[in-house]
Amino acid sequence: MIAPSILNADFAHLADEIAAVAGADWLHVDVMDNHFVPNLTLGLPVVESIRRVTDLPLDCHLMIENPDRWAIGYAEAGAANVTVHAEAVADPVRTAAAIRDAGARAGLSLKPGTPIEDWVDVLKHFDTLLVMTVEPGFGGQSFMADMMGKVRTARRLVDAGELSVVVEVDGGIGPDTIEIAAEAGADCFVAGSAVYSAADPALAVARLRAAAQRAAATR
Ligand code: DX5
Ligand code: ZN
Repeated sequence: MIAPSILNADFAHLADEIAAVAGADWLHVDVMDNHFVPNLTLGLPVVESIRRVTDLPLDCHLMIENPDRWAIGYAEAGAANVTVHAEAVADPVRTAAAIRDAGARAGLSLKPGTPIEDWVDVLKHFDTLLVMTVEPGFGGQSFMADMMGKVRTARRLVDAGELSVVVEVDGGIGPDTIEIAAEAGADCFVAGSAVYSAADPALAVARLRAAAQRAAATR
């Protein structure tokens, strides 16, 4: 699955920018609060508006402190998946249950410095795992290939039936890096600048998907 991140879109023309990637699988929406990460983006009212202009499933990535305060609101606004950060959430199992009760999938994200081993038991209560392949906060950063150990671990646990999560990667994914992540076992690829800096975002999505499929087939 390819999930374009609107972080690199033109926010003054968001509906058009979203329509340009209608062939994607999910739409990745980065919510930043200038506390958990040193950047500020958008919040619930914008997500509610986005929900009304697209049929794409919304993949809301909450890079915020105190995500319990907000996560359920995103689920109630119609997000398909609501991801909170392991480093920010007080009681992840309770938060996952609340997100699911509100009708969305629940996601857990790990910053680059957070080891997956500490979170395996908690991940049994989640539907998606978002492995950050950059430090969260900004688009256009370089892919951290050394995060592929986490992706391989997650893939192995999923294939062994010990976890049941979509393995998602986020940060620096583009034509030169997506195959590395696909070979490691990712299922879903967030791409911001690689999609929205391209002359033809729809073509960029299709090319990324083809490259990921090719690489996954060699796994
Ligand atoms: C970074 C965000 C990413 C970002 C990815 O904190 O979580 O979703 O939009 O942008 P690129 O693909 O440009 O690295
Ligand atoms: Zn993101």
